Amino acid sequence: MSVRRLADDNVQPKNFTFSKENGAWAKKRIALYPKGRQQSAIIPLLMRAQEQTGWVSKPAIEKIADMLKMPYIRALEVATFYTQFQLQPVGTKAHIQVCGTTPCMLRGAEALRSVCQNKIAKKAHELNEGGTLSWEEVECAGACVNAPMVTIGFDTYEDLTPDRLEEIIAAFAADKGDTIAPGPQIGRQYSAALNGQTSLLDIQIKTPKRQAAKKPAKAKAKSASLFATPKGKKDDLKLISGVGPVLEKKLNKLGITTFKQVADFKKTDITKIDDALSFKGRIDRDNWVAQAKKLVKGDK
Ligand code: FES
Repeated sequence: MSVRRLADDNVQPKNFTFSKENGAWAKKRIALYPKGRQQSAIIPLLMRAQEQTGWVSKPAIEKIADMLKMPYIRALEVATFYTQFQLQPVGTKAHIQVCGTTPCMLRGAEALRSVCQNKIAKKAHELNEGGTLSWEEVECAGACVNAPMVTIGFDTYEDLTPDRLEEIIAAFAADKGDTIAPGPQIGRQYSAALNGQTSLLDIQIKTPKRQAAKKPAKAKAKSASLFATPKGKKDDLKLISGVGPVLEKKLNKLGITTFKQVADFKKTDITKIDDALSFKGRIDRDNWVAQAKKLVKGDK
């Protein structure tokens, strides 16, 4: 069971302010909710604060509570409840959340925890020597069928063995985390049966091969522009839930700058982007196309 407390006072910054870009984003996000329901924006705003500084400090929670005109205790309740919010500084390259709930525990979570203790720091929430990596144990992340698993950032890494987790940690430590495809690490398709199809046997389902870590040069070549960048103003792609500032930059680099482009994605476009950015399945999982269609209509 994870214990959720705010960081000690000596770690807390004096104050928090959203960057200009994030402040503008927050205003738009708050305006999406019906009049009188602005407090519903608490989760996206806390998440954006975390994207900005790596964790959610007490001044950030209070600032957001002020923006949403809600009592501090209500904002604190939300921030301390969800393990997605980091309440103290985490590794600058990766924070690894090891699921320790029953299915993962029965399938080897304790061995994964030992890897984190040996490779990162003895205790959860402690930073490694360089301050680049940290870890913690969390409750079920909803990928139990592919247990054991860890979450890093917005991605899950499933069907793990201690060796595979060591490889993943090494990749993040070397700034090559984006060369590891998230999802199952043993080549199974999503959460399909481990030993192949057991139903719908008349339909051939293609099983993807596990993507090994790619050489950086190759990965770089793959992120070159894939789409013709449209002329004119860029849209704020961060209004699509699941797209943060880093991902927006990567999409722009691929030539994707407008909601219209995302709304018009074909299956082949999604495959190309998945492949280039090594985040197989995220576009479908977060429903980018449907979100972008609404944004194109001005239906925010
Ligand atoms: S028990 Fe680990 S993901 Fe559900």
